[in-house]
Amino acid sequence: MAQDIFDLPGPPVHSIVGHLLELSQDPLDFLTNCREYGDIVPLRLGLTPNCLLTNPEYIEFVLKNRDDFIKSPGFRVLKSLLGEGLLTAEGESWFWQRRLAQPVFHQKRINNYGEIMVEYTNQMLESWHDGEIHDIHADMMRLTLKIVMKCIFNTNVDSGETKVVANALDVAMQWFESKRRQNFLVWEWFPRPENVRYRQAIVEMDDAIYKLINERRKSKETSNDLLSMLMDAKDEETGQQMDDKLLRDEVATLMLAGHETTANALSWTWMLLSQHSSAREKLQAELHQVLQGKPPKVEDLPKLAYTQQVVKESMRLYPPVAIFGREAAKDSQIGDYIIHRGTVIMISQWVMHRHPKYFDNPDAFQPERWTEEFEKQLPRGVYIPFGDGPRICIGKGFAQMEAALLLATIAQRFQIDLVPGYPIIPQPSITLRPESGIKVRLTQIMQEQSQDGKNREVLIRS
Ligand code: HEM
Repeated sequence: MAQDIFDLPGPPVHSIVGHLLELSQDPLDFLTNCREYGDIVPLRLGLTPNCLLTNPEYIEFVLKNRDDFIKSPGFRVLKSLLGEGLLTAEGESWFWQRRLAQPVFHQKRINNYGEIMVEYTNQMLESWHDGEIHDIHADMMRLTLKIVMKCIFNTNVDSGETKVVANALDVAMQWFESKRRQNFLVWEWFPRPENVRYRQAIVEMDDAIYKLINERRKSKETSNDLLSMLMDAKDEETGQQMDDKLLRDEVATLMLAGHETTANALSWTWMLLSQHSSAREKLQAELHQVLQGKPPKVEDLPKLAYTQQVVKESMRLYPPVAIFGREAAKDSQIGDYIIHRGTVIMISQWVMHRHPKYFDNPDAFQPERWTEEFEKQLPRGVYIPFGDGPRICIGKGFAQMEAALLLATIAQRFQIDLVPGYPIIPQPSITLRPESGIKVRLTQIMQEQSQDGKNREVLIRS
């Protein structure tokens, strides 16, 4: 007989706010410990009934069933910034947008952005010097923002309206971060200075995006950027296209979803490579063998097998989205368990990606584990850095290509070592970011011709 999830065992409740304190103090550790209670773990956050899913079949069931399990309140707070764009929309509106946007993200079209990715990375490397200390997370954030803005608007982030948009996004993200710290208990409309700044930033961002859309509509030139492709996208049955408001929401969504996630993936990768010198050497050897000191191209990616394994393993241990959720839109059943309408269902990549049932030595960084056979036998719903089901990340191909190209471009020219003693704290906000950045020392790698005429790399300060 079906059982109510709140009759199942779960962690003890110590306070009237339920598990809110544990979850806000150390959510990753708390949720990992919840795994021992079973496939569905009942939780209470304030007055809201919650649960954590730890069974991959249940995770798949929920992610596939977008009508019964809608986006959780955690996503809805993003609506004041992202409106009704792809990430936050529901129902028919989401379905219509996804149908229009899907071809825009087809791998063949996305491949055109590979050159921009490498070019912008090389520009960044021109400003890097041997021996410098950098916050590599800040560098990766700047770089991926520049790339995504160029891919959306075909303009440089340092110029005109694009700069306004980027600055406004920064203010908005800071606002979200401060609200997260207060568990969103301070209302957005309360006239506190940071709320006023946030609303002002959104007004500025909207003005700038609408201006860019208007200019594009008037322009006779054709452009291959994401904005143009979204503007041209047409419903084949009705001929309907996205209006300016929806384009604005889509563009804001792509800016947000499309830069911080990839920046985090790369930042954690640099940390892991610095901590695992044998993996770093293996990566260097592959880059040397395949690229011979040349910048990588999209066509090189299939040959860069170890590079891709490194990215996969890094996103396993440090998933850029570490916790996300759904809400039961009606009374439902997951497996043999009854879920009441309004229950928030948490899914955690962090918890699943380190599950000892599916990964040997789950906390160890072992890129080699990602063989074809290993992937084939891994049940769906275990490794889900990009989510799954109909709402799987639309930028998955873009992000995988970007992460591999940036890693290959940078690792050929610089060795990145952690500054000893600098604390690195994973903080699961909207994305999993290092709370105080990641301080590193850069060592330039020089190409040198050996006697047999072949290139080899040497560290400049060996
Ligand atoms: C490593 C990088 C990335 C990671 C880990 C990631 C992760 C995710 C995840 C987990 C979701 C699903 C959320 C859910 O089901 O509730 C998602 C959705 C989404 N992502 Fe990504 N993402 C990345 C990069 C990107 C990029 C580069 C773009 C765009 C250029 C992008 C755009 C989106 C959009 C628009 C959605 C909403 C899709 C929909 O609901 O139809 N993401 N992403």
